[in-house]
Amino acid sequence: MLEHDVIIVGGGLAGCRAAVEIARLDPSLNVAVVAKTHPIRSHSVAAQGGMAASLKNVDTQDSWEAHAFDTVKGSDYLADQNAVEILTREAPDVVIDLEHMGVLFSRLEDGRIAQRAFGGHSHNRTCYAADKTGHAILHELVNNLRRYGVKLYQEWYVMRLILEEGQAKGVVMFRIEDGHIEVVRAKAVMFATGGYGRVYNTTSNDYASAGDGLAMTAMAGLPLEDMEFVQFHPTGLYPVGVLISEAVRGEGAYLINSEGERFMERYAPSRMELAPRDITSRAIAYEIRAGRGIKPDGSAGGVYVYLDLRHMGKEKIMSRVPFCWEEAHRLVGVDAVTEPMPVRPTIHYCMGGIPVNTDCQVRSGADSIVEGFFSAGETSCVSVHGANRLGSNSLLECVVYGKRAGATIAQYVKNRKLPNIDSERYIKEAKQQIQSLLDQPGPYRINQVRQAFQDCMTEYCGVFRTEELMQQGLQQLQEFQNQYSQIYLDDKGKDWNTELVEALELRSLMVVGQMIMTSANRRQESRGAHFREDFPQRDDNNFLKHTFAYYSPAGIDIQYASVSITMFQPQERKY
Ligand code: FUM
Repeated sequence: MLEHDVIIVGGGLAGCRAAVEIARLDPSLNVAVVAKTHPIRSHSVAAQGGMAASLKNVDTQDSWEAHAFDTVKGSDYLADQNAVEILTREAPDVVIDLEHMGVLFSRLEDGRIAQRAFGGHSHNRTCYAADKTGHAILHELVNNLRRYGVKLYQEWYVMRLILEEGQAKGVVMFRIEDGHIEVVRAKAVMFATGGYGRVYNTTSNDYASAGDGLAMTAMAGLPLEDMEFVQFHPTGLYPVGVLISEAVRGEGAYLINSEGERFMERYAPSRMELAPRDITSRAIAYEIRAGRGIKPDGSAGGVYVYLDLRHMGKEKIMSRVPFCWEEAHRLVGVDAVTEPMPVRPTIHYCMGGIPVNTDCQVRSGADSIVEGFFSAGETSCVSVHGANRLGSNSLLECVVYGKRAGATIAQYVKNRKLPNIDSERYIKEAKQQIQSLLDQPGPYRINQVRQAFQDCMTEYCGVFRTEELMQQGLQQLQEFQNQYSQIYLDDKGKDWNTELVEALELRSLMVVGQMIMTSANRRQESRGAHFREDFPQRDDNNFLKHTFAYYSPAGIDIQYASVSITMFQPQERKY
């Protein structure tokens, strides 16, 4: 059995930032990060547009309070305001700290960090490194892991959270290279495993975003919070779905329908293309429904709209958003200097996740925590985003709350002993689980079941939802569960058995999908990214509360918890 003071699952921004903090605060601690890819291939590396902080370098009128208000309003008043206050107050310091670590932010003429406009933010406060901000930050953090001697298990797949008597004691993991299984015991376990974009058929997320940490937590009997809130990013490149950063609109690009009209005038006249994502994504979907989408020959009735950069000019495009230009050129043959890009909404982010308090301790219910278990970043829900996240608040959350998780953990593990674990039992069960997947006969292949599952989630629990649709979807999900036990794996080997990894990931996707659809079906109102055509209004009397969903193979139990409202009373949300 392996032993560490702290085991962090996930090598993205939140996990790396926590590891660096622990190592900085107490160099004597033995800290490990385990990731199923190399850490610099974690999905954080793909973050483009930037990280919000009221540095006031461009806009002297900005303040943390204004940032907090924009965030709460953007969240459709579901965000926990105590957590938002921490996020926005600490933002300027964490940006400067990253700069001191060596992160190469883009600059103003006078050398200070540049800041740009972003959707739903009332001031120009998004700090950036061209349109490769995640890349710039993650590389520096991974370099710092090495500098501080953090142990790295790269390309290991964590299969199980060991939770006994209300305490997280470690994880079970296998090495993808050769199938070797290990149990790790630790005084503290942290999950920073990112999102679940692959639950849907079109996403900006990488292939690894399978919701593994969420599923493992749910299968250990712990709740997941607000899973119904799934963010569509307005501008996924059609047809591939990869991200075309909101920074492109922040730098001045227009959204255009088949009639050549800047249609956001109808939906958010004061913010236009820089309305929050839920509003902009729905606007695009409405335009397409109304027959004003565009077809490849440029005529009406198609399934995308245009993102038009041409008026920005080549120099601005190439200096501010060069990666987005390159993506469109490489993937769909569009030169954005001279042609508009085809875009439509793509799944981008999960607002919900593993419930945590503001010290990143995992909650087992509205008023209780789990000993030894911590989480931060997209996989967690401290609820700074509520029902809809503002662009550039996600990198910020990873860094503010990753750092806080690190500080909490460094303190927590002091004077604690390593837990006792029956490692033989866990290894035996993991081997049995893998062997039964390898042995099971059946007519189905992974990609067939996964595709049908993703299509079901997209069709029955997408931008527009109704009870009737979701009831049909939930029935189909039951059928996919049956098919899962009849999936046949062609690869029976141990070495680099990526088919086996995909089978385990599919299990995660299905658990997460069931949590999303059940939570969405029970929330009979429209709020933020959750839009019910059968309940089109926000209903604060009945649903100004967080969903806590508890998974069991027999079904999902839904409970609710209160929202922290400390600064801003809910109002009608208009842009
Ligand atoms: O559009 C973007 O660059 C994405 C930013 C974000 O999700 O925060």
